[in-house]
Amino acid sequence: MVKPTLVSNTIRAHRERAGLTQAELARTIGVTRQTLIAIEQQKYSPTLELAFQIARAFGVGIDDLCRMTETMPAWTRETYGPAAGTTRTRQPVPQPHRGEVVLRVQATALNAGDVRLLLGDPLLVRPFFGLTRPKNPVRGLDVAGTVVAVGADVVNAELGELVVGELQGGGGLASHARIAADRVVPVPPDVTPEAAACLPIAGGTAWQALDAAGVGLRHRAQRVLVIGASGGVGTFAVQLAALRAAEVWATCGAHNALLLERLGAVRTLDHRTSPLTHLPSSRFDAVIDVAGGVPIRELQRLVRPGGRVVLVTGDGGRVLGPVPRMIRAAVLSLRGPRVVSLAATSRPEILTKLLELVEEGHLVPVIERAYPFDEAVSALAHVEAGHTVGKVVVTQREG
Ligand SMILES: NC(=O)c1ccc[n+]([C@@H]2O[C@H](COP(=O)([O-])OP(=O)(O)OC[C@H]3O[C@@H](n4cnc5c(N)ncnc54)[C@H](OP(=O)(O)O)[C@@H]3O)[C@@H](O)[C@H]2O)c1
Repeated sequence: MVKPTLVSNTIRAHRERAGLTQAELARTIGVTRQTLIAIEQQKYSPTLELAFQIARAFGVGIDDLCRMTETMPAWTRETYGPAAGTTRTRQPVPQPHRGEVVLRVQATALNAGDVRLLLGDPLLVRPFFGLTRPKNPVRGLDVAGTVVAVGADVVNAELGELVVGELQGGGGLASHARIAADRVVPVPPDVTPEAAACLPIAGGTAWQALDAAGVGLRHRAQRVLVIGASGGVGTFAVQLAALRAAEVWATCGAHNALLLERLGAVRTLDHRTSPLTHLPSSRFDAVIDVAGGVPIRELQRLVRPGGRVVLVTGDGGRVLGPVPRMIRAAVLSLRGPRVVSLAATSRPEILTKLLELVEEGHLVPVIERAYPFDEAVSALAHVEAGHTVGKVVVTQREG
């Protein structure tokens, strides 16, 4: 993996043609003016990634700026919008920075979160992920892959090791991905890359939701209702709650009832025909809402005094997303059972426990379909449609 060799004076010529000052271009690509001056004077060679950013700022190809070295296939969408606009391009193979590793990706599991980043929805996410277009045009957050390059100061990952982790902001729908070494954990020999890739966000969120609800932490034999149980988070929440000895009820489409029962639900309710208003009050110790759409007061009514409601869903309005519902949850918690709005984070220690459960056969990632890398757009479109059963994976497994 090598850095690009800049063609003499090219950046300066492009910048002047674009009518940009050094300060403006530096701001656009996220470096200081001094750094940009050093790049233009060829006193400093930018990473290939930075060179790509500069090329994008000018709307030209990378070949116009530097002599190309090593690139990789990636699925990219330069603007916010539906999966259909995602195209196969070539991007620079990422270089590991200090504390990072580069993976040869073997499997990428998609999440509802990938669709939110694809669409830039809600608008609230855009200041963080790119105001007018995505900072990272490659979607895919959960990856399992082989370590092929190791940055300085990495102690927990070795070349050739199969690891799994959650990328920040995307990058998984490419042949290589760069990730902070402290976000990855090794995949046990008996766990496939596809199964491992399902775990970071969906499994980690389900685990953290059950912790937030207090399921299995203090009391055993609790009654738990999982609303929206058939998707990625839901199928893990049902299995993990059952493993924590809870009596699990689940809402799902009628076509997924048998699956949920096999995963450990003692009772399923068709979310299209069985309104929750028909359930008796104080029926549950905890309600985990993965689907949204049910008024918070109704969720509170379903839990016993001292029980908990955990809001997992990211659904909400176009601008603020789930934030108004979170505020309402905090207010209503003052006068009823506590409602916790979950913001799950990357937790490698939980990921390690999930991998152990999969290895022991206690937890089964439900994979509705594994798409080959060439069909990654169809995989994204499938998740975008909102009816995924368990997980959708894009596989690039060697051999
Ligand atoms: N708070 C956090 O930190 C956090 C972390 C991760 C994910 N999330 C959020 O959690 C939600 C689920 O994510 P995911 O990746 O698991 O999504 P997903 O896999 O795309 O979920 C799809 C599933 O949800 C079911 N569903 C949709 N509406 C439903 C309803 N009203 N009642 C019952 N089931 C319903 C669908 O069943 P049908 O086909 O029958 O409609 C489908 O099987 C998303 O809103 C996501 O943004 C939040």
